[in-house]
Amino acid sequence: MIVCSCNIVTSKEIEAVILEFLMADEWQLITPGRVFQAMSARGKCCGCFPGVINIIVETTRRYHELMDSPAPKVVDLLNRIAAQRTRIERAKKNAVAKRSSSPVTGYSRV
Ligand code: FES
Repeated sequence: MIVCSCNIVTSKEIEAVILEFLMADEWQLITPGRVFQAMSARGKCCGCFPGVINIIVETTRRYHELMDSPAPKVVDLLNRIAAQRTRIERAKKNAVAKRSSSPVTGYSRV
């Protein structure tokens, strides 16, 4: 299934990159930016990033389940990965607010 229409990237390709990262260091924080960089792609509209984060969380969860990793450490890692959604949503809201504000006064045009 295509996850990123800007770069035509599938969920399987993303999962493969994530697994490579996990095999190199299973406790590292994997971000959409790092995944895209590894695929020689880049976030253009970044609209797929929340979906990419979901794939990172799910792939990481399955990996650690197979490895029988200690649950508290896995939960902490998954929470840190999922927290990226909040940062992305905040950045999106700031970008929208910036675009809709007047270039002269900085006040909203509403
Ligand atoms: S849909 Fe992935 S960068 Fe635009």
